[in-house]
Amino acid sequence: MKPVAPPSTLIYQISFISMYTNHQSEQLFEKAKQLMPGGVNSPVRAFRSVYGTPIFFKNGKGCHVTDEDGNKYIDFCCSWGPLILGHADPDVEEAIIAAVRNGTSFGAPTALENQLAALIIDNHPVVEKIRFVSSGTEAVMSALRLARGYTGKSKIVKFEGCYHGHADSLLVKAGSGLVTFGVSTSAGVPDSFAAETIVLPLNDLEALEQTLLAQQQEIAAIIIEPIPANNGLLLQENNFLTSLRALCTKYGILLIFDEVISGFRVGFSGASGHYNIHPDIVTFGKIIGGGMPVGAYGASVEIMSKVSPDGPVYQAGTLSGNPVAMAAGIAALTKCLQPNFYKDLEDKTSFFIDLIQKEIDKHHYPVHIFHIGSIFWWSFSNADAVRSADEIDANSMDYFKKLHRFLLERGVYFGPSGYEVGFVSAAHEKEDLVEAAMKINEGLAFIYAT
Ligand SMILES: Cc1ncc(COP(=O)(O)O)c(C=O)c1O
Repeated sequence: MKPVAPPSTLIYQISFISMYTNHQSEQLFEKAKQLMPGGVNSPVRAFRSVYGTPIFFKNGKGCHVTDEDGNKYIDFCCSWGPLILGHADPDVEEAIIAAVRNGTSFGAPTALENQLAALIIDNHPVVEKIRFVSSGTEAVMSALRLARGYTGKSKIVKFEGCYHGHADSLLVKAGSGLVTFGVSTSAGVPDSFAAETIVLPLNDLEALEQTLLAQQQEIAAIIIEPIPANNGLLLQENNFLTSLRALCTKYGILLIFDEVISGFRVGFSGASGHYNIHPDIVTFGKIIGGGMPVGAYGASVEIMSKVSPDGPVYQAGTLSGNPVAMAAGIAALTKCLQPNFYKDLEDKTSFFIDLIQKEIDKHHYPVHIFHIGSIFWWSFSNADAVRSADEIDANSMDYFKKLHRFLLERGVYFGPSGYEVGFVSAAHEKEDLVEAAMKINEGLAFIYAT
């Protein structure tokens, strides 16, 4: 295979000579930095892993977004996953407006909560009862408390390379050497909290078995993104996931599938349905709210009976089950349940990826696009399987950085980090995908030009 040269700085610099400007975004960002830490309300938006300043968006319709400078992009970030129907879907929009007209919050039950709960319970194999919260972080945090309350044990196991939101006990990475107890990855998380979390490598059955054998009495739950999609797309071997299920059952440990990304994305029943594995608790976020802030956790009637006010595990929320958000979720999930919805989405994604992969193969670029359902991720290496976080070379992110900028200037938007996955939505039409693929192929030629 012909060796490929590293990206050329000179060519990269020349690329800046383009018609693309983002002065409005730059000005807004300057102001934002005076008002909010780093100028943003969530760190990855700050564009620190890619060139330039964050784009300030003004509106979105279908698969397109327009920024404050009037630049239009085909969007593959889709708000980091929630927008499976694209931006401003007419049915979701209408449901939101109708709900708003009835009042935005009551701090009391509404029929809409029943509707969304029933829609999910009737169509999801794991969920017999559900509790709505307002974010994925809250869903995961509450699920862990429930697992601890249910089992009476305190430790949890997570996997390196999975992200579960910013609850204290999850901002933890593996300790060094043989010590598997976690160490905090954020200031403000006491070591004593981190010590309650055991961190293991993904796809390593031996490490898992040894840990469970030694510490089964203390472990309440194992939490995993069954489709790890926050540190690349680290697709796990089937055997790892089925063994994980079997070991949890054997040792009386609850298995939590964090389906904040994969839930309603790779099928209505998410990764649980895709792999035909029944976790004890499942957490949701993103798609469940149709673009509004909703999270949820669900499980069997028996496990959920421990949640307050029925049981002793306290969990609450002023805006939980918010009627506007529920209305959006109902409209979105109703569309997801239409016949062939997921098949069409997957077909579109394969069509798109094939257009790019063919070009990659033709030129022997050291790039592989991993995908499942409508989720995809660029691996800038020759590996045809990447299953754990340590298999990703941090230096390869330089290629993404250059590609990201190239595409931004040509109207294709990806989330501003090479570790993040892209999403295809039902609103991406074939011509959008062809146009984007063409620009991506030009971008690959550019970054691998000698
Ligand atoms: C798998 C997973 N779990 C939890 C979260 C946290 O969700 P939120 O950002 O809504 O708090 C995320 C967010 O990206 C996620 O991807």
